Amino acid sequence: MITPDAQAAIDAATDIVGYIPYVRRIMPRDGLVLHETDNRVEMERAAHALQMASDGHRVVVVSSGDPGVFAMASAVYEAVEAGPRTWRNLDIRVLPGITAMLAAAAAAGAPLGHDFCTINLSDNLKPWALIEKRLRLAAEADFAMAFYNPRSKSRPEGFERTLDILTECCEPERVMIFARAVSTPDQALNITTLAKATPDMADMRTVVLVGSSLTRVIERDGAPIAYTPRSVLE
Ligand SMILES: C[S@@+](CC[C@H](N)C(=O)[O-])C[C@H]1O[C@@H](n2cnc3c(N)ncnc32)[C@H](O)[C@@H]1O
Repeated sequence: MITPDAQAAIDAATDIVGYIPYVRRIMPRDGLVLHETDNRVEMERAAHALQMASDGHRVVVVSSGDPGVFAMASAVYEAVEAGPRTWRNLDIRVLPGITAMLAAAAAAGAPLGHDFCTINLSDNLKPWALIEKRLRLAAEADFAMAFYNPRSKSRPEGFERTLDILTECCEPERVMIFARAVSTPDQALNITTLAKATPDMADMRTVVLVGSSLTRVIERDGAPIAYTPRSVLE
């Protein structure tokens, strides 16, 4: 699902910088240097890219999905703000991509067809209390929701707590969609309900969509379709 603009930038690059699995998706060619880095070094990676750009390289920092959604675009601008003043005048462009929740929503039908919000369930970069507050308020406001980074091996309990909070705030029939490895050969889509959802349905390759109270499922031969109507009637 790479966009034509992103592909054109990759084709014109001298250097590709990014997390190892994303850089490995780039076809090697003469004149292109691939710089793979570990996931935990975002700021160093961004500073490295900016330094190479300052030295005259054409650098592409790659993310999956959209670079502005829980990804490298913010890290690059944080590094710009903290770095030498000359970095502010570099020709930096963020090229939009198709974020996981939109690819997942399209695969399932149209569950984000009305108001929705997005929450990163990882508490690596923010306290769990803030995640819990946002979950409760989003449920109270009857947003559909998309959860990124739902469950990692190092913090499996966060998603269990998320399901407990949703169970407190929403009805058992609430539509839930577990979309794993969307747009890859491993893609798996599970359209279910809150009552049937279990923590092991999510991992770090899954984006989880929760419908609003109006989200519906059309049963048919084959996979069902989930959608949220365009209007909320008074
Ligand atoms: C650090 S975030 C990066 C999001 C990415 N920038 C985007 O716009 O999709 C990583 C999380 O995105 C979601 N994700 C990324 N690619 C996915 C895919 N192909 N299928 C399902 N979820 C995906 C998962 O929730 C994963 O834990």
